[in-house]
Amino acid sequence: MTNGRKGDVRPIMVAGNWKMNGLNADAEHLTQAILDAGLTPASPEVVLFPPFTLLPMVHQVAKGSSLRWGGQNLFWESHGAYTGEISGAMLRDHGCRYVLIGHSERRQIFQETDEIVLKKVKAALHSGLIPMVCIGESEQERLQGNTEEVLRRQVEAILPALGSAGQQANMVLAYEPIWAIGTGKTAGPEQAQEVHAFVRGLIAAKNPDIARKILLLYGGSVKANNAQSLFSQPDIDGGLVGGASLQAAEFLQICQAAHVVARGL
Ligand code: PGA
Repeated sequence: MTNGRKGDVRPIMVAGNWKMNGLNADAEHLTQAILDAGLTPASPEVVLFPPFTLLPMVHQVAKGSSLRWGGQNLFWESHGAYTGEISGAMLRDHGCRYVLIGHSERRQIFQETDEIVLKKVKAALHSGLIPMVCIGESEQERLQGNTEEVLRRQVEAILPALGSAGQQANMVLAYEPIWAIGTGKTAGPEQAQEVHAFVRGLIAAKNPDIARKILLLYGGSVKANNAQSLFSQPDIDGGLVGGASLQAAEFLQICQAAHVVARGL
């Protein structure tokens, strides 16, 4: 499902996933550099996902600005004897508006299943957070021609938590082909667009109104030199950026590319 006038219904978003990188001084520098670049309400929505330990620093530096931030994970219970885990309320307490859920590194290294992803999405919504849910196929799944089947399974798993028609979309999806994460290989803009249109179609089958409104970000080796061509695609509403979000200048160029696309629509 393609909507050539996405700017009318969907803002552009650029999110930076810092993964397990950075100390307080890095967080202060990166956050301040983004603020110094002068985000305005007309800018793309910029969301940072620092490690938990850096949330207080990001919160302190960015409080009151239009910059947004979130946790890279959460646990589905609200509190209790769950050593090492973090709840939605704890993230809210640090000013988080978003939370990443189901990143492929969580799915692969920490064995998070579709069932766990749904539990976390529900917990996030219950805490008043907006889940940014990652989906994507491995290289082997793509080579075997199973991309659509994998994405269908991952999207259908979270559909029970999708908002109802008339509401704003209550989550963001990020399509991140695993073979493109941290590898320097990016899905070509047309290739990514094809998948995004497929994913939007899956959502439309359940709720056409939300499908029109939901943000579908692309992730996987997004850099300053490919951001604009990716974000210009009709069903790509911005990017989830890993490695390049750790360098202020590169990340700001990606935000600038999003700004150019948003203004051009
Ligand atoms: P990358 O990571 O930009 O370094 O490929 C993207 C992600 O994992 O979110």
